[in-house]
Amino acid sequence: MHFLTLADLSADSCHNLIERAVELKRQLKERGSSPQTLADKSILLLFEKPSTRTRLSFEIGISQMGGNAIFISGQDSQMTRGESIRDTARIISSMADGMMIRNNSHTNMQEFANNSQVPIINGLSSDFHPCQLLADLTTYYELRGSIAGKKVVWCGDGNNMCNSYIEAASIMGFNLVVAAPEEYLPPAELLEKYSSSVTVTQDIESAISDAALVSTDVWVSMGDKDADSKREILKPFQVTSELLDKAADDVLFMHCLPAKEGEEIEVGLLDDKRSAVWTQAENRLHAQKALLELLFSPSN
Ligand code: CP
Ligand code: NVA
Repeated sequence: MHFLTLADLSADSCHNLIERAVELKRQLKERGSSPQTLADKSILLLFEKPSTRTRLSFEIGISQMGGNAIFISGQDSQMTRGESIRDTARIISSMADGMMIRNNSHTNMQEFANNSQVPIINGLSSDFHPCQLLADLTTYYELRGSIAGKKVVWCGDGNNMCNSYIEAASIMGFNLVVAAPEEYLPPAELLEKYSSSVTVTQDIESAISDAALVSTDVWVSMGDKDADSKREILKPFQVTSELLDKAADDVLFMHCLPAKEGEEIEVGLLDDKRSAVWTQAENRLHAQKALLELLFSPSN
């Protein structure tokens, strides 16, 4: 099984994974222990783009589970000199037990998966960031319980994170409102496919009204072009403390980080009492350990 998008999980396995993530967090904090699911296993981490959280959480998580993480940066592999994805995936499958990839192209990610005999995990592609969603969903569940039936608002750029929220809405049964400018909406096919759980608006104020969860991301993602004009168009979609006052009393604010204070969020919002961003970042570790357990347990 590969994990390229959240839609690779059934609703049942997504719910189980989230519950397991909370349990693994508790086990680690109370007993300092983790299941040794990855003993004698090696997982390759290929990063063609920068990362702090994803690299840290995978390296530490794999180590806590008894495995060996091997980091390769985009510049280090023979793919930079033209070796094909097909041949690279074949070599990796013959030695490693799995691979996490962060890259610029979801199509390349799929090509890796098509040619790999071992599980491929999407650690962020041009189109999706499913590992981050596992952490976001775990955080909501841990702090507030079930997200089913709740109003969740995505603010700003209709980017890879937004696309993963769209998939999450369908799997977890929440209503997603995407507050984004016409110029930066998520792909029309995705909106159409998931039209029963997602709506789009340019009115951020009414979108946030009564929301249970408000989430955003940088306006300029890694590899984005036309940064200045994009910032200008996205200006009306900044999340502020005053806007959060219109949401439900128990609203949580999330941001996958890194953040650009003064752009997509008002300065200081990360430490607002409604902000869950630090727990959310920590939960990358616990949620991905639950994912690794799902992918690498002998019984699965
Ligand atoms: N949220 C996230 O994926 O962070 P990094 O880019 O630091 O890995
Ligand atoms: N949308 C951002 C997420 C970073 C974690 C990017 O792709 O750069």
